[in-house]
Order: sequence, then C-alpha cells, then structure tokens
Amino acid sequence: MEDQAVELSLRPRFLAEYIGQTQAKENLKIYIEAAKQRKEALDHVLLYGPPGLGKTTLSNIIANELGVNIRTTSGPAIERPGDLAALLTNLQEGDVLFIDEIHRLHRTVEEVLYPAMEDFALDIIIGKGPSARSVRLDLPPFTLIGATTRAGLLSAPLRDRFGVVSRLEYYTNDELSFIVSRASDILEVPIIGEAAAEIGMRSRGTPRIANRLLKRVRDFAQVKGDGVITLEMARMALQMIQVDELGLDEVDHKMLRSIVTNFRGGPVGLDTIAATIGEESQTIEDVYEPYLLQIGFLQRTPRGRAVTPLAYRHLGMEPPENRT
Ligand code: ADE
Repeated sequence: MEDQAVELSLRPRFLAEYIGQTQAKENLKIYIEAAKQRKEALDHVLLYGPPGLGKTTLSNIIANELGVNIRTTSGPAIERPGDLAALLTNLQEGDVLFIDEIHRLHRTVEEVLYPAMEDFALDIIIGKGPSARSVRLDLPPFTLIGATTRAGLLSAPLRDRFGVVSRLEYYTNDELSFIVSRASDILEVPIIGEAAAEIGMRSRGTPRIANRLLKRVRDFAQVKGDGVITLEMARMALQMIQVDELGLDEVDHKMLRSIVTNFRGGPVGLDTIAATIGEESQTIEDVYEPYLLQIGFLQRTPRGRAVTPLAYRHLGMEPPENRT
C-alpha cells in the first residue's frame, strides 16, 4: 500500500473502532442514534482541542455512522461567500459539511453561515446598486461539523449555533498503547506489548504522534533488527530520533532551555520565545505549549510563560530557590 493509503487505513471508520475520548464518543453515539430514529439531520457539532487528537477522524466517523456523505474543507480555504454558497448548495439532505480550522473563517463568509446553520437558508444578493435585492434560497437540512484548536477564537454568534460542543482530551497512556497495537496489526508489523506501551507513553497524549513514532520505529526495526519491534528496539529508535521519555522533542527542549537560560525561567512573552528559538508563535501556542502546560512544565502568567521546577528537574537542572 502507498503511504497515504496506509495513513487512511489507520484511521478508525466507526465509533466501535475508535479508542479513547469516551465521554465525547458516548454522547455522540446517543445523538447520532436519536437523529437517525427521527430521520433528521444531526445538530451542528463543534469539536475542539489540541491538534492530532482525532477531530477529522471523528467527523468522518460521524458521517459514516449517519450513513451520509461528508464534504471537507477548511476555514481559510473558503475565501468568499460564493465559495461557501457553492459548497452548501451541493449538499444532499442530511449530509455533513466539515470545516476544519473554523476559527479562521472570513467574517463575510461567517455571516452567510449563520442563516445556513439556523434556518437552512442562503441569503444571496442579486444585482448591484439600487436594483440589488436579496433572495433567500432553501438548503437541505445538513450537519455542520466545525473543528478548531482554539474554541476561544470563535465569535460568540458562531459558537452559539452549534447544538453539540465537544472538547477532545489528551489520550491516556493505556489508550495510546492500544492505538499503537491496533496500528501495528494494520501495518502487519510485529510488536511486543511493552514496546507499544513505550511508544504510547512518548506520544504526548496524541494518536497522530503515536502513529508517526510507530512508523519511524518500524524503520529502525526493519533496518537495524529483524523487523520485530522489541522494547529495546523502540527505546533505541526513539533515542535516535530525539524523543525523550516524556515524548518531548527537540523543539520542546529548545524552548524550555531557552526560557531557562535566556530569561531566567520566565515569565517571558510568547513572541519573544518564538523569535529566540525561530518558531512561529502560533505553532508554539497550538502545538507545543498545550502539552507542556498539561504536564505542568510550563505556566501561563499575565506576564508570559514560565518554566516550572518540574521542568527544571526534567532538564537535569536545579530550579532557582526563591522565585516570586
Ligand atoms: N488511530 C488514530 N486515532 C485513533 C483512535 N482514537 N482510535 C483508534 N485508532 C486510532
């Protein structure tokens, strides 16, 4: 199989195959069942949480479970109201429209979305100047699924139009271990249980990372070993690709060390950190920081980010004695 096909096949297609996110999953199961019984479109769903936790996967599963088509797009890809109108008028009754990065929708597009979500109607302006008039087109009932890493950036009117709002959480080590085992089965790569657990433990609570690490470890096992992923092989490979015991990579280390050495542990502003280590502020905020906050290595204060004593010790450094 080609790499992309493998990537797709690793994604669960039904709720029963989907590991983790128990709360979101159990609730969605009820809402889907209820909508199907009533032969109605499922209410609009907002999925939010850090990247890689399965928002896209879950959206595809929802469409599959409902037995409807899914159209996929993203906030920045919809440049004009007409682009959204084209998408909406191509939907069939009950279909899912999935908008990734929905916090990045243009204002003008967002305004077209409101009546579409609320009344399944599209208001379009015909003509220009004094003879311009607005016509209302009916749309088939549909389900909008919006995904975002930043629910806080959504405007209140948009957020209020979602009937289901679901926050995806970081996965537990056990769940990640299961996900790695499941992916190994699909990839037909033999793996020892302890190795699956080790990869899971170093995946920052994130299935996308777990699957990526598994593939890299598989490469090492194939070239440096006999193809079997043992615990030793997993540890050796993870060390080679510079993923530490907690799953922190080079960028995490660079960032923590930079705050410690250049800014005496902080607090220091996000943009300053970004400039110092040569990463985008947005990437740090969306990708790196959430996990460091989650494991208590970083603190957000009104004056910026600060490294915690826990992080100092992980880096093999003594935390300063009297920090205020
Ligand atoms: N692969 C990626 N995410 C998954 C999940 N949540 N459950 C099962 N397999 C996955």
